[in-house]
Amino acid sequence: MSRPARAAAPGASRGRRTRRAPERGADRTGTEFEVEVGPVAHGGHCVARHEGRVVFVRHALPGERVLARVTEGSDGSRFWRADAVRVLRADADRVEQPCPVARPGLCGGCDFQHVALPRQRALKAQVVAEQLRRLAGLELAVRVEEVPLPAGAPEPGAEGLRWRTRTQFAVDAEGRTGLREHRSHEVVPLADCPISTPAVVGSGVLAQRFGNVESVEVAAGSDGGDPLVVVTPSAGAHAHLPRLPGASVAVRTPEGLHRVSGRTWVGERVPVRGEELSFRVSGAGFWQVHAGAGAALTAAVLEALQPRPGERVLDLYAGAGLFTAVLARAVGEEGSVLAVEGEARAVRDARRTLHDAPQVELWEGDVAEALAEPELAGAEVDLVVLDPPRAGAGRTAVAGIAALRPRAVAYVACDPAALARDLATFAEHGYALEGLRALDLFPMTHHVECVAHLVPAG
Ligand SMILES: C[S@@+](CC[C@H](N)C(=O)[O-])C[C@H]1O[C@@H](n2cnc3c(N)ncnc32)[C@H](O)[C@@H]1O
Repeated sequence: MSRPARAAAPGASRGRRTRRAPERGADRTGTEFEVEVGPVAHGGHCVARHEGRVVFVRHALPGERVLARVTEGSDGSRFWRADAVRVLRADADRVEQPCPVARPGLCGGCDFQHVALPRQRALKAQVVAEQLRRLAGLELAVRVEEVPLPAGAPEPGAEGLRWRTRTQFAVDAEGRTGLREHRSHEVVPLADCPISTPAVVGSGVLAQRFGNVESVEVAAGSDGGDPLVVVTPSAGAHAHLPRLPGASVAVRTPEGLHRVSGRTWVGERVPVRGEELSFRVSGAGFWQVHAGAGAALTAAVLEALQPRPGERVLDLYAGAGLFTAVLARAVGEEGSVLAVEGEARAVRDARRTLHDAPQVELWEGDVAEALAEPELAGAEVDLVVLDPPRAGAGRTAVAGIAALRPRAVAYVACDPAALARDLATFAEHGYALEGLRALDLFPMTHHVECVAHLVPAG
């Protein structure tokens, strides 16, 4: 199978806001007004109404009264975006942001630092329930679960911080690393990023300056090796790199990764049912970012699928083989796991990790195309796990999965709206939601990971 084509990143210039709707009427950016804040909405903001118009307000909580400042919107816009720049009546769950730049007009990385953690999870639960109701017609009481860090309990006051093992930093015109403002290409230089792990920050990238560099990704694996810093040079330029003695360094080139020092991959260890499984992830390839994600997600998938020795499993959007490895152990050598993944590098990583598991087969290619292959479309499959990117699996892939009539499906989803759309398609094809777990794999942000368990209806 051929590798699916990947779209190029949009090349918007620095300093401009992105995805702005065409302007109609006078620009109202900067306009301030007092407003009562309504319910939370998907995307890290709350809904308010001002003079009949919907305004999505960040840095606020439902029920608060705030002074809102418009960040995007004109007289002709259907809705405006705004920041709460002053709180006139605060909610009891409002807290002081642990990071000095998690504030209106500054870093866009976190959405909910001003909210106590239990309330963050309650807001996300509301969003998941609303998406399921609106897009899939499902009424469900959702609870978002806290996910522990493998290192043990955090220091008092540090709950919800230091979980992120992979962070992509942007670089400004002076060569300083930081994160972008919300919906903007402006870089806010950082000395620390409190949601990133000590190993990510300890790589030294925030203390250094880079020349001719677009972005700097840091991946800190759980095997105790040095963090890997992957540098993407500015278009057509030769990157000038600082010394980073505590890190492996690689430069992304059109031909692939060019090693500067150390390894071009990181090692991951995941505890599963009393054993520790090892994985290899090249470059800044996909791996769940929360330090406790591997353990939490594999446990949720095993709980949903209840795999038995000898069963035949499909792992779709398999990445470096996290679920493949776990399911291969569960079904044993008399069973089988077919993993499908679009990125050649991730398939190579999975091959290295799983070379001694004869029950595993790895396919490189597009999932929807793979499901249409006669070899797979006619196969007998007991269980399916799918973990698609943010956009979801889509109608063709869902129909292909349902046509295989597996006895159970575990759908791992990072966007509840895409999940809800795909659940509606599964329902059309005779699959019902049996259970759903929502995991707080992204504290301080609006993101949430769900694992949906589907079974044949009726
Ligand atoms: C959310 S990641 C999940 C990876 C893996 N399950 C894990 O937990 O580490 C999604 C994966 O799907 C792959 N992918 C995206 N679109 C794809 C497609 N249309 N066909 C096959 N793989 C795809 C990406 O390369 C990525 O590795």
